[in-house]
Amino acid sequence: MVRGGPVIAVDGPAAAGKGTLARRLAEALGLPYLDTGLLYRAVGRLALDAGRDPADPAQDIAQTLSPEALRRPDLRAPEVAVAASKVAAQPLVRAALVETQRRFARERGAVLDGRDIGTVIFPDADFKLFITASPATRALRRFLQMGGDATAPDARQKLADMEETLRARDAADAGRETAPLCIADDACVIETDTLDAAAVLAEALRLARARLAGQPAG
Ligand code: CDP
Repeated sequence: MVRGGPVIAVDGPAAAGKGTLARRLAEALGLPYLDTGLLYRAVGRLALDAGRDPADPAQDIAQTLSPEALRRPDLRAPEVAVAASKVAAQPLVRAALVETQRRFARERGAVLDGRDIGTVIFPDADFKLFITASPATRALRRFLQMGGDATAPDARQKLADMEETLRARDAADAGRETAPLCIADDACVIETDTLDAAAVLAEALRLARARLAGQPAG
């Protein structure tokens, strides 16, 4: 496919830090950035608003998704993540969103983060990253990101609940038939348990620059 710039795919499980990394990577490389999870979150949100079960067919919502729906401030709510995962398991919902994602990168290239960017949306991406961390690390990050207090008396229970929620969503995302969460054969994997956001960015940039310059990255 002819493109105006490189395409970088950033995939991985829930709350692995894909968004933070992908945004910073895009900034550093001067590329547009798309959080593809927002597409599924917006479809899930609209299904909930309409009083529909997100497991019921939702392609009509995906086919008519407006840019405003992606800018809603309530897309990060936990119930929206669960609804997103349910609509995202529907082949017709995914089919309705493929072209939007490919078009986004056409003019200047892009960094996109999600679950199937390197496997389905851009199998020919110039560089593929898979960002991951243990469920406990990811639960703590999401807990803090949502304003949780790790010193509160009920923090331990809340963290355990969060970990269980993330594990369930990962299992659904990895177990679905269409575009399951998995590591592309040619992706570079970064385990981020012991790395802060700056260190993950430094490693991703090192790998990306090597790959884009035509050297083997790894
Ligand atoms: O931020 P977090 O990692 O928790 O989730 P997200 O990236 O916003 O994605 C929310 C849900 O959308 C995921 O659990 C997936 O089910 C779905 N998704 C997908 O199927 N494919 C993508 N490219 C992006 C998200």
